[in-house]
Amino acid sequence: MCGIIGIVGQSPVTERLIDSLRRLEYRGYDSAGVAVVEAGKLDRRRAPGKIRALEDLLREQPLPGKTGIGHTRWATHGAPSERNAHPQIAGKVAVVHNGIIENFAALKRELIADGRTFTSDTDTEVIAHLIDRGIAEGLEPLAALKAALDRLAGAYAIGVVIEGHDHLVLGARRGSPLVVGYGEGEMFIGSDALAVGPFTSRIAYLDEGDYVAIDHDKALIFDAEGRPADRPVRTVPASAALVEKGNYRHFMEKEIHDQPDSCRNTLSAYLDPIAGKAHAPGGFDFTAIDRIQIVACGTASYAGQIGRYLFERLAGLPVDVEIASEFRYRDPAVAKGTLAVAVSQSGETADTLAALRWCKDKGLTTAAIVNAHQSTMAREADVMWPTHAGPEIGVASTKAFTAQVSVLTALAVAAAAQRGRIDAAQEAALVAHLLEAPRLLAESLHVEDAIHAIAPEIAKARDVLYLGRGPMYPLALEGALKLKEISYIHAEGYAAGELKHGPIALVDEQTPVIVIAPTDDFFEKTVSNMSEVIARGGRVILITDAQGAAHAPEGARVITAPTCDPVIAPLVMAASIQLLAYHVAVIKGADVDQPRNLAKSVTVE
Ligand code: F6R
Repeated sequence: MCGIIGIVGQSPVTERLIDSLRRLEYRGYDSAGVAVVEAGKLDRRRAPGKIRALEDLLREQPLPGKTGIGHTRWATHGAPSERNAHPQIAGKVAVVHNGIIENFAALKRELIADGRTFTSDTDTEVIAHLIDRGIAEGLEPLAALKAALDRLAGAYAIGVVIEGHDHLVLGARRGSPLVVGYGEGEMFIGSDALAVGPFTSRIAYLDEGDYVAIDHDKALIFDAEGRPADRPVRTVPASAALVEKGNYRHFMEKEIHDQPDSCRNTLSAYLDPIAGKAHAPGGFDFTAIDRIQIVACGTASYAGQIGRYLFERLAGLPVDVEIASEFRYRDPAVAKGTLAVAVSQSGETADTLAALRWCKDKGLTTAAIVNAHQSTMAREADVMWPTHAGPEIGVASTKAFTAQVSVLTALAVAAAAQRGRIDAAQEAALVAHLLEAPRLLAESLHVEDAIHAIAPEIAKARDVLYLGRGPMYPLALEGALKLKEISYIHAEGYAAGELKHGPIALVDEQTPVIVIAPTDDFFEKTVSNMSEVIARGGRVILITDAQGAAHAPEGARVITAPTCDPVIAPLVMAASIQLLAYHVAVIKGADVDQPRNLAKSVTVE
């Protein structure tokens, strides 16, 4: 949701700004821009479209300067045109911004009444005007920044350069993340560790409300009240290698293939293979809670739904799962004794964060299952349960999803043991199954050839249905979401038993029906549902295991994934639906890693 970078350097910065923006492009790719201050003068280049367009422009019109800011945009206010691209300039001030200024209309009216002229439709331009007005009134840059911040309502991470200040970049955060990078005689600000990863691994994460001034060799950080603040500098492993595609064509392809490792890394924090036990890192008493409320968005909410089956079945703990954007405005009646669990790759998703805060305000214990371990959710929740998927760059989530499911499964086993629902032998058996998941996930990637063969047919479809029962139902929802978001084919996921209550009317020869049904308690029932589809001329593609393949109804085409225990089936079956979406998108020539209209880390409502 917009990426920002700022550098006070010893050498020309444009190339490095671009390098960083490329790493941030997953956060938005509608338009991009850079601004520098050089010999007291401010200048900028902006271009609609991807970073490539900005690079072409910079080749024609270079921009020398050792201090600068850059931005890649996911449009909120104003179309993705050049005039709305960041940096936005007012007078002597250039601003890049990630977030939404909620009171921008009122501020804009005030600034226009003050004689100021606006040249864009963005909310960001008011920030530039407010800071410029402060400077025109004689304030020093930091004081002008603080005065501007005090007027803003909403969410922001910003970077600022000011004409006449060749060695200064200002930054601030509230609601959207911002880090400070410490180099050798150079300093950086950026949206995340990846943004500054090529330049330094020494990073400080700003707290909510913090603002900062960086020059060549230091960062002056202040908290929301304007008091000098110390934020610990950590060394993070954001090496360049972490975000390379290697031999893969797309990040999504690489991330699908990363899953055996990311699943293994994640599970190793939750399982003790020698003792055959599962635990929450840092410990958690699941006997002290009566129920769980999971809040999440999109793919993370489907991981949460899979978690519900496991917690209820294994641990007997009632679980509610709700989409965070609905939960936060519903005034939900949550019982005391409820553990609120946010599930989020980025740890910054605005709706999930708001839902988490709401639960905290109500006095509930909160936990966050997050992949970004320094994110706002990670820091604000009472308990942080990490996924160790590594940076996920493809906008369509894959390895973060299976890492979330891994954590939820391990925690469900831990909860079941603590609550006396399973004995030590049963716990050890479940842990043994979980420990097999990375290997079986690796094996499940071998379905790629079969998926590849079927993908051209799916690519021709206008609509696709996904069906599943039990934990395969949320996986069906996830399969449909993956296909929609990267191949733009309309797809819907349904509980297989629900088909006859309406959606079966959609079944015809043109509409592939993808059924996810490993051998489990639900298999026989799902076979009946498949037969109903086939009887109506529907084309069924069944994703199952060897035993399921042997019992597939006549007429169904089968993709055979490895046989596994039902407790890890969501992990093992996930690769098939991800690979299917991926190969269909590739056939359609779609931009797999940066699908239209989407962005990662959705920090607006
Ligand atoms: C879909 C996808 C999204 C995210 C959702 C939540 O492929 O990636 O649906 O799952 O935007 O994002 P996080 O997990 O960062 O809170």
